[in-house]
Amino acid sequence: MPLITHARDHRLWVLTAAESCYVLHVGDDDLLHGLHWGPALTLEQAITLLDYPPPRPRSCEDPRDGILDLGAAGGARYGHAGLQVRFPDGTRDLELRFTGHQISDESLILTFEDSHYPLAVETHYRVRADSPAVERHLTIRHTGTDLPIRITRADSATWILPARTDYRLSHNYGQWAAENQIQRSVLAFGATVLGSNRGMTSHHANPWALIDDGSASEEHGAVYGAALAWSGNWQIVVQRLPSDRVSLSLGAGHAPESRLLEPGDELTTPVSVGMYTEGGFGAASRAWHDYIRAHVIPHPDELRPVLYNSWEATEFDVSLKAQMTLADRAAAIGVELFLLDDGWFGRRIDDTAGLGDWTPNLERFPDGLAPLLEHVHGLGMKFGLWVEPEMTNPNSDLYRAHPDWIIARPHRDRTRIREQYVLNLARRDVAEWVRATIDNLLRENAIDFLKWDMNRPLTEVGPLDGSTDDGLWSAYVENLYAILDRLRADHPALRIECCSSGGGRVDLGMLARTDQVWISDNTDAVDRLTIQHGYSQLYPAQTMGAWVTGSPNPWTARSTPLDFRFHVAAAGALGIGVDLAACSDAELGRLGELIARYKSVRHVIQHGVQYRLGESNAVQYSALDGTEIVVLAFQQSRSFGRADAALPLRALDPQAGYRQVSTGREHHGAVLLTRGLPLDLPAGEQASTLIHLRRVGIIPPNEEEANPWHASAQ
Ligand code: GLA
Repeated sequence: MPLITHARDHRLWVLTAAESCYVLHVGDDDLLHGLHWGPALTLEQAITLLDYPPPRPRSCEDPRDGILDLGAAGGARYGHAGLQVRFPDGTRDLELRFTGHQISDESLILTFEDSHYPLAVETHYRVRADSPAVERHLTIRHTGTDLPIRITRADSATWILPARTDYRLSHNYGQWAAENQIQRSVLAFGATVLGSNRGMTSHHANPWALIDDGSASEEHGAVYGAALAWSGNWQIVVQRLPSDRVSLSLGAGHAPESRLLEPGDELTTPVSVGMYTEGGFGAASRAWHDYIRAHVIPHPDELRPVLYNSWEATEFDVSLKAQMTLADRAAAIGVELFLLDDGWFGRRIDDTAGLGDWTPNLERFPDGLAPLLEHVHGLGMKFGLWVEPEMTNPNSDLYRAHPDWIIARPHRDRTRIREQYVLNLARRDVAEWVRATIDNLLRENAIDFLKWDMNRPLTEVGPLDGSTDDGLWSAYVENLYAILDRLRADHPALRIECCSSGGGRVDLGMLARTDQVWISDNTDAVDRLTIQHGYSQLYPAQTMGAWVTGSPNPWTARSTPLDFRFHVAAAGALGIGVDLAACSDAELGRLGELIARYKSVRHVIQHGVQYRLGESNAVQYSALDGTEIVVLAFQQSRSFGRADAALPLRALDPQAGYRQVSTGREHHGAVLLTRGLPLDLPAGEQASTLIHLRRVGIIPPNEEEANPWHASAQ
C-alpha cells in the first residue's frame, strides 16, 4: 500500500506511517487543515471526516479559530500563527492560495502562493514504512525582485491534535547539572511556551513535547509527540483553545528574532518530527529510539567503546606523566578509549586562558601530544581529545590577534561567562578558521575521538552583515553543522561526543552529527538516575554517555557503593571517570570485573529495546531477537521488615525459559512477566544489580510451576 494517498476531488491527503496516519485537507478557502492525527485510516475512511461539521459560529464568535496545519497569520485567525511575515508595505496578513502538490513514495509537498505579494510557501512531509514518525519542514521563497520580506516566525510544523478535554503535556526542564527533569501536567488553556533564547538548545528545556490522552501510563495510553532537529534558539507553542482544540507548533528562533528574505532567496526551516503511538510513554520512547537509530544517528550499529575520561581525576592539573599513569590503569581494567579532557593546550592551566589556541601546552607536553597518543595506542586503546572550538578566552593568542572575531556589539559590554567569549561562527572566515584548525589538529595527531564542548550561551547577538536581519543566530548553527559535517566527511573514522557543560545541546540536530552525548556534568549516581530517566524519554541508550566516578561524589558529596555507581553508568555508553591513580588494587580489580561484565551485555543495552520498569528504579533491555535480556535494578533504601519485591519484566515469551547467566537458574517467561524476577540484591542502602538472562527455548508446560499465584503461595 502506498504511504501517501490523495483524493484529488476532496483536496485531501493521507500520510500513513507505521500504524498511524496524518490527514491533510485544503479547504475551499485554501486553508490547510490537519484533519486527523492518530490511528491509521484508509483514504476512503479519511474522506468521511469531511462530513463532520465545522464548529458552528455562536453569536459574535468566529469559528475560524486559526488551528491550522499551516498556521499563516492573517484574517480572523487569532491563535498562534506558525508563519508570520511583514511585507515591505507593513502588511502582516498572509492570504495563501493553494497551487499544487508533489507526491513521491515517501514524501509530499504542498505549495501555496500569496494572492498579492511575491511569497511562495511549501509544506514538506515525509513518512516511512518502518516508523510512526512524520518529518516536516517549510520552505519559504521570495519570488519577487523588489524589497526584502521580513519573516517574523517560521515554525517547521504545526501539529493538530483531535479536540479532547483531558490532555496532559509532558516535557523536560532543568538546569546545569540537573538536566532532563520531567514535568507532566494538565494541558493549560491558552498557550504554553517552551524554548530557548540562549543561542543553543539549553539545559533548561529540550525541544520536544509529548501530549497524552490524559490517562497514559508507562504501559498504556495514546501519546502524541513532536521534536525539533535544531541546536540554536527554538520555541514550542502548545495551544489549547477554550473549544479544546489543540495544536503543537515547533520552530527555530525565539521572539523577537526575525529574518529578512531577499528577492530570490529561500528559507528552509529545520525538520520537526511527530509521532502518534499507543502503548503509553514506554512505547512512545521505544518508537522514538527506533526512529533515531534508524534515521538520525550515524553508525547506529557500532558498539560504543568503554571510555575513560580524566576530567574528574585531574581537572586542569594535567601532565604527560599523570595521564600516562591513568592510561596504564585504564587499559588494565579494560577501557577501550582514553580521553584527555581540558587543560592540554595553549596556556590553559585553568578556565581563564587558552581557548582558541589549539596547540599543545609545551610545558605540559614538551613533545606535543604524540608521546601520550602513542602510549595510549600502544596500550591497545583509542585516543580521544577534548576541544571547545566555538570559544575563545580574552587571555588567548587568538583573541589578541582577532578581538573582532567574537559575537559582540560596539557599544555594549562583552559579557563573559566562564571567562570566555563565543566566536562568531556566522562569519564565514571565522567558521572556516574553526574547521581548518580542528582539521589540522586531526591531521597532525592520530586522534580517534573528539569531545566537542560548548560551555556558554550566546550574548550580545547583533544583526548579520550590518542589516536588520537577525540571521546570526541561525547562521551560527548552520555553520556549526557544516563544520561538523565536513570534519566527519574528511575524517570518516572520527567519532564525536557532543557536550555542552553536560547536556546543554542535546537535540536531533546534534545527534545527527555526533555519536554520543555527555548528558550531564552531574555524576552523582542517585541524581543521575533521574537525569537518565528523563533523557530516555526520547533518546536511545547507546547515545547516552555515563561515567562511574569517585565516592563521595565531587558535586554532591554523597557516598555510594562502587557497584551502584557502576550499574547506573552501565545503562548507556559506559565511561569511567574515577581517579584510577587513587584507587586501591581491590577497587581496580572490581572495576575490571564490572567492565568485563558490561562488555558481555552491552550489545543488548546499546542495541536492544528499552523498557523502563518503575520510576527510574529499573531498566530492562531486550535483544531485538528476544534471545537475551539485561536488567539493571536499583534499590535506594529499604525499610526494616520489608522483603525486596521481585521485578516483573516486559515483553518476554511466556512459553519460553530464561536462564540467569551468572547463576544458571532458570525462570519461566510467564512467571517473570507476572510475579517477576527475584533480584537478590546485596544488603544495605543503594543496592543494585545487573542480571543477564538468555532465552533457553520452550519449557515444557507445567501448570503448577507456570502459575504465578501458585508460586506466590510457596
Ligand atoms: C565542561 C564539560 C566537562 C569538562 C569541562 C572541562 O564543563 O561538561 O565534562 O569537559 O567542561 O572544562
